[in-house]
Amino acid sequence: MDKFIIQGPTPIHGELHVSGSKNAALPLMAACLLSEERSEIRNIPRLQDIYTFTKVIQGTGTQATFHQEENRWTCDGSTLDTPEAPYDLVRKMRASFYMLGALLGRCGEARVSLPGGCAWGPRPVDLHLKGLEAMGYKMSQKGGYIEAKGPDTLPPSSFTLQPSSVGATINLVLAAVLRSESFRLVNAALEPDVVQFCEALQAMGADIDGIGSSTLTIRKVTRLKGLDWDNSPDRIEAGTFMIAAMMHPDSVCTIHGIRRSELGGLADDIRLTGAICEFNSEGTSVRVKAPERITPISVRTDIYPGFPTDLQAQWATMLTQAHGTSAVEDRIYEDRFSYAPELGRLGANIEVKHNVAWVTGHTPLNGASVMSTDLRASVSLVMAAMVAQGQTDVLRVYHLDRGYEALEAKLTAIGANIERVKE
Ligand code: EPZ
Repeated sequence: MDKFIIQGPTPIHGELHVSGSKNAALPLMAACLLSEERSEIRNIPRLQDIYTFTKVIQGTGTQATFHQEENRWTCDGSTLDTPEAPYDLVRKMRASFYMLGALLGRCGEARVSLPGGCAWGPRPVDLHLKGLEAMGYKMSQKGGYIEAKGPDTLPPSSFTLQPSSVGATINLVLAAVLRSESFRLVNAALEPDVVQFCEALQAMGADIDGIGSSTLTIRKVTRLKGLDWDNSPDRIEAGTFMIAAMMHPDSVCTIHGIRRSELGGLADDIRLTGAICEFNSEGTSVRVKAPERITPISVRTDIYPGFPTDLQAQWATMLTQAHGTSAVEDRIYEDRFSYAPELGRLGANIEVKHNVAWVTGHTPLNGASVMSTDLRASVSLVMAAMVAQGQTDVLRVYHLDRGYEALEAKLTAIGANIERVKE
């Protein structure tokens, strides 16, 4: 297992380029299985999750290739012959559960392993299963697998997501587009990843009304063309870099390849701390300059366009350098604070009560060994290490490799002192 050895403190200045979005790429890859033609998706990031999901898709007999040197992914939908997704792969990445909707949509039957646990949770899939049942699929569970079947045409149905769920929205749309006479999904997720996914299906020939709203109506079409698509940039990577650029008073960075419209109110939150945050006229780049003194700003996560839960660890980490006490409340995942005790080892003053992290700064951080526990917690430890005095060893960086393409190269290029070492 690799670790990062990070020397701090180092201000960062220069240009960062955002990679393609992991959370947008995965549903696009699943959508390709609904077509019997060849598909191609560009701007796919070189991340472990993409390799894992490619393996899951190949397990159905589908010829799928990740041309990693070109960040391009292709597949030939006509070669799919086994509607299954095995435990040993699904357990590595819970988004593999999208195979349930894709295989039911394409083949009318599926045998897919239930996803395993996660570093935080619970992360149930009850809405996925109830929604499929409401759509008319026959569902059963055997030996840790979901086995499901459905007819060529499902009668009109509707389902309400409570709470709204990105994964359940994606799975239900995948299962409906080729089979349901009419499926109305209420309280559908509004995340940009989901909007792009629906727009891509529409480009393939799907009949979906209400894209971009919280009520989707899908009507069956008999076949879909292959997908030819440019994946969106990673809004969470963009947000991570914007927050990282605020933490050292001498930092100033320009982050390229973003979409301002997908960042919700993050820029406003950043400005409230006293940082400068300016977009170019096209909204494709943003310049962030750290403030002399960070004003503590509390946030609470919410579904899009609220503050993303995938940025709460990064925001709490930044608040260790703010002057005063503030709160980070996660209303999506009640216990996504495994990073807090690790930051405590660096000297941070964070108290977690229920689903709120109370952060008091300004605390000078000092290097230590810290343990990554999940994707976003680990990038927060890297951000903290970059402003900590001395050497910090961030262990188990395979968590990072799941969600941040070439992170150490990108940060080293703008002044960080990070060395990857094989453990
Ligand atoms: C997606 O996970 C993302 N993953 C997560 O990003 C992200 O944190 C999450 O959405 C929230 O934005 C991908 O896109 C691959 P949800 P997902 O279903 O779909 C509850 C990262 O770091 N719920 O929208 O699993 C659930 O418990 C990852 O890149 C049910 O109750 O999230 C949660 O409280 C981590 N029953 C809420 O909905 C269900 O059947 C939102 O979860 C499903 C979800």
